[in-house]
Parts: sequence; C-alpha cells; structure tokens
Amino acid sequence: MDRIIPQHVAIIVDGNGRWAKSKGMPRNYGHIRGAKNLEVICEDAWDIGIKYLTVYLFSTENWKRSTEEVGALMQLFHRYTKSSIKMARDNNMKVRLLGDPSAFDQELQRNLTELVESSKYNTGLNFQIALNYGSRDEITRAVRRIAAQCRDGLLRPEEITEQTIASYLDTAGIPDPDLLIRTSGEQRLSNYLMWQLAYTEFYFTQTPWPAFTKADLEKAIDVYNQRDRRFGGVKKEDE
Ligand code: IPE
Ligand code: IPE
Ligand code: MG
Repeated sequence: MDRIIPQHVAIIVDGNGRWAKSKGMPRNYGHIRGAKNLEVICEDAWDIGIKYLTVYLFSTENWKRSTEEVGALMQLFHRYTKSSIKMARDNNMKVRLLGDPSAFDQELQRNLTELVESSKYNTGLNFQIALNYGSRDEITRAVRRIAAQCRDGLLRPEEITEQTIASYLDTAGIPDPDLLIRTSGEQRLSNYLMWQLAYTEFYFTQTPWPAFTKADLEKAIDVYNQRDRRFGGVKKEDE
C-alpha cells in the first residue's frame, strides 16, 4: 500500500542550545544553524508532499531566558524574516503567523506583516511560524474577542460552537495537524497548539533540531503510517 503523507505537520524545533553546546559553541550558534535548517526542511517537506508545516520558534515563556539570549533571538528573527520574504517568493510559500507579535519591536512587526502580506496569494507550502506563541495565550485572546462580541450583542453564548472557537484562534482556516514532531528528546507540549493537537499523532526523536534532516522527516512519516488512527471510533476491520 502507498504510504499516506500527512497533510499538516507541526514541529517543536527543540535542542538548538544543547546541539551547539555539544560542539563547544555558544547557544546562539545553535539558533543560527537551526534557522538555516528550517529553510532546508521547508523545501524537503514540500518535496515529500506535505501541504502545511507549522513550526514553533519562540514561546510566550521564552522571554524568561537571559536578556542576552532573547536579544540574540530577536536579532535572528529580524534577519530570518527578511530572508523569508525572498524565500517565500522564490518557493511560492504562503506564510502565516501564529502568536502575538505586539511584543516585538516596530520594525520586526512591520517585516512580519510584509512577509505575511507579500506571500498571501502564493499556492505552494502553507508555512506557519509560531512567534511569541502560547496555546493558553491564544485561547485567552480568542475568549476575550468572543466575550466582546457577546457583550456587543453580535453573538449569543448558546450559539458558540467548537467551530466558533476554532475560527477565533490564530490557526483559523488551517486544518489541524496530522503529525506533531518534537526534536531533541523532550516529550511535552510546552504550550503548543493544545486545541489543534486534540487528535494528532505524536512523534519524538532524540535528534536535535539543527541536525534534523529530510531522512528524519521521512522516518517520522513512516512511523505515522504505522499508527492506527481512530478519532474515537472503531474501524470496520477492528469491530
Ligand atoms: C529551540 O532550541 C529554539 C527555541 C526555543 C528558541 P532551544 O533553545 O530550546 O535549545 P535547548 O532545548 O536549550 O537545547
Ligand atoms: C518550546 O521549546 C518552544 C520552542 C521550541 C520555541 P522550549 O525549549 O522553550 O521548551 P521547554 O522550556 O523545554 O519546555
Ligand atoms: Mg529547548
């Protein structure tokens, strides 16, 4: 039987710091190499037939890191956003942003808006970047907007469905991930897509993000193909 390619793959790109440390290099070197690898994996994902790729680049909790590391990450996001504008154009990628960009400096916010706006009619890979993203923050922001609609008489509480809530999340209009990959050994969600991952298959690998290759992505898809997906029901052959 042909293998099934997951339509939407979400990745927690973890282990940049540990990877760099293992090479005797500063953590920031790991972030730089991690950002480079992201560009490679985007192309690999599209080659494989993945339509949506969603990556976690900076969590609402990552502000707790040292001022030095946060500063270096912000600098990297500036450069990454600029090069992504070109990459999205060259590779026909449609980029969307998950998270709350209002905490970033004005220039980064402007460049992020340009990245999203300049790529919105592209028809290749749907690439979501989660920046200053946290699932609890996303749900809190959604609830505030829903509550305001109710207050203003535009929505009745009894009309609120799961679809209503999904449509207020940053991922509105994007199908839920089929496969979640977390690199570098940790087996937790760290506040990533908690609503959207309700029925997603999880795959954990020891490989740190900067060393993650197309072959690792293929391996994750092979494992995904061995899973028995049920969505709460029972398949005919298992009855
Ligand atoms: C992931 O790598 C990238 C970010 C969270 C920005 P880490 O920086 O978490 O690297 P480790 O997990 O400390 O090795
Ligand atoms: C999760 O990784 C966030 C990103 C990959 C951006 P962390 O490395 O920050 O998560 P914890 O702190 O180990 O849970
Ligand atoms: Mg980490």
